[in-house]
Amino acid sequence: MSLIADLRKALGDAAVLEGEAMGARPASDMSLTGTALPRALLRPRSTADLAAALRLCNAAGVPVIAQGGMTGLAGGANPSGNEIAISLERMRGIEEVDTASATMVVKAGTPLEECQRAAAEAGLFLALDLGSRGSCTIGGNLSTNAGGIRVIRYGMAREQVLGLEAVLADGTIVSSMNRMLKNNAGYDLKHLFIGSEGTLGVITRAVLRLHPPPGEITTTLCAVESYEQVVALLRRAQAALGGIVAFEAMWRDYFSFNAEALQLRFFEAEHAFCVIVESTMAQDAIEEFLGACLEDGLITDALVAASHAQSRQVWSVREGHPTESLPNLLNFDVSLPIGQIGHYAEACTSALKARWPDAHVSFYGHVGDSNVHICVSALYGPGEDMHSVDDIVYGVLGPYHGSISAEHGIGTLKRPYLHLSRSPAELALMRTLKQALDPRGILNPGKVI
Ligand code: MLT
Ligand code: ZN
Repeated sequence: MSLIADLRKALGDAAVLEGEAMGARPASDMSLTGTALPRALLRPRSTADLAAALRLCNAAGVPVIAQGGMTGLAGGANPSGNEIAISLERMRGIEEVDTASATMVVKAGTPLEECQRAAAEAGLFLALDLGSRGSCTIGGNLSTNAGGIRVIRYGMAREQVLGLEAVLADGTIVSSMNRMLKNNAGYDLKHLFIGSEGTLGVITRAVLRLHPPPGEITTTLCAVESYEQVVALLRRAQAALGGIVAFEAMWRDYFSFNAEALQLRFFEAEHAFCVIVESTMAQDAIEEFLGACLEDGLITDALVAASHAQSRQVWSVREGHPTESLPNLLNFDVSLPIGQIGHYAEACTSALKARWPDAHVSFYGHVGDSNVHICVSALYGPGEDMHSVDDIVYGVLGPYHGSISAEHGIGTLKRPYLHLSRSPAELALMRTLKQALDPRGILNPGKVI
């Protein structure tokens, strides 16, 4: 194939891997739903390399797919077999931390944790944080508009970006490396590339916004007996504790299952909800707050993590299921108005259990951001598959006017359901943008729209 030869000529042989040399990694993200390897894997060293590669692929009409840390959960970086995958792994590194403007300039292939560390070393704080921080990369975080555990205080990935550089399908480099908090000079083009999952351009560099360090974070675990009280706890904690930097609720089935698997026990009794509240207030103020909540019956038990290790233990229960004991495990990521999440969880559980009485169904997540994750593990009968579960989870969501994707993106897995969360006019405008930026349809085809 002459395209591969042209790519080798333009980027050098070492930047073009084929066959076994690619390894298994480019086949699937963490949804583990990808089954095909790409035609070839490119490893450009620079934006100019990447632009040259896209120019060649566009001219040949060959689809491309940008890949970061492969930690996505929606199949957005999975090849279907005929694409050229572009790994950003060699476009890695922090170019600059500017303490005066509280910004950092990073290359797209830099792991999130490396960026967090560099910000901290400069006495600043990068607010984006998620469980896969060690392997996910900034390019992937921005192209999926990642959420994570600090959204309640600092917003999603989009809110951490001041400027961006991206390469369009035809190889045009759009450098929009703004460093100012205010810049209303025309359209804010960076938002075309943030959250569009590589379908409108490939992000290559970013100017990230940094914050003052939040100070000492104290982790507490609160036992709560109703969803209404979970919401009441959120609002009361926000009013009384100022700096709430995380608020994560775990429904009983989620908490008990994980705590048991990890052989951890935090409270004497089981509770309907266990809620992680993190705050930067002084510990005695937090203890006073919890005491008042206990007295009023808003919470029934509470634990203040006495050490970083104990905080990690609490988070380990939150961070995931031992998948081996849960066949066909699916992980959903929906959002809906905060006050209605409790009803939705009940209705969704009833509908799933009516179909599969023995199914594992559990809820957890960033309730303070109106976002809840759902774990479903069911043994399918004849004619059933994961879409049978999708139909129920999204079907029950419909009347709540929620979103089928709060933070994980659409990728391939949720594409058939996008119309449930976007109107015909919104979908038409998305197609207009796609056509304008990528007329030959080479960028991550089959994803999102
Ligand atoms: C999380 O909140 O832990 C992530 O979004 C990943 C997940 O849904 O499992
Ligand atoms: Zn999440």
